[in-house]
Amino acid sequence: MIELDRSLFADPPARDDRFEIKQVWSEMHNMWDDEGKMLVEFMHRQMNEEVNGLEIAARNLTDFPDAPWELRLAIARQCWDESRHVNAFRRCFETRGGRVGEYPILNFEFRMITAIPTLIGRLAVQNRSFEAAGIQAIREALEHADRYDPDVAALLDAQLADEIQHVRYGNRWVEELIARDPRNAIDVVRGVSQANRAFPMIAGDAAIHLNLDDQIKREVGLIDPIPAQT
Ligand SMILES: [Fe+2]
Ligand SMILES: [Fe+2]
Repeated sequence: MIELDRSLFADPPARDDRFEIKQVWSEMHNMWDDEGKMLVEFMHRQMNEEVNGLEIAARNLTDFPDAPWELRLAIARQCWDESRHVNAFRRCFETRGGRVGEYPILNFEFRMITAIPTLIGRLAVQNRSFEAAGIQAIREALEHADRYDPDVAALLDAQLADEIQHVRYGNRWVEELIARDPRNAIDVVRGVSQANRAFPMIAGDAAIHLNLDDQIKREVGLIDPIPAQT
């Protein structure tokens, strides 16, 4: 079994023995044919990623009990959102004949993020980077699903609204915490550079660069809204 660098990856989350756990992308069941199986496998993989999202947010609450109350409230709301996403992907997966544990899973996201020792570093990587890239991917998938699968389109549409909020509050609090103490910017740089070293170890050749379109950047607060016409 591949061993991940323990300076970049924390302990894995618990999983019961239904699950076969892999460490890197190349060990997964990566299918490229599309006779329906690829979508079913994706649902299973994504269901577990949503569990990772829930577990990361939950750990942010327990690891940083002194964080500002409003930020903790936003993180708690994210826990609730991610748990709904888990159930939504599970329902879609099972209605297509899938069985939980049928495909291998990756828990790199939890291990990468919880190895970052600061809350602002975790928000910068998880909320402002991973989830922002996720929004772009969901929006592109939604355009496709709208045409051929209303059930999947409804799931992605509901998920998209929540994920935009996760990026928005992450972005807002990264800026707010730096405004309160500019030294926090160093922890953002440290967190992002740690993730930049860790992620290629998981993704290998499969890493792709996603550019956010301007509409998404505006919705998540990365660029200013267009001023209203007068
Ligand atoms: Fe989610
Ligand atoms: Fe999320």
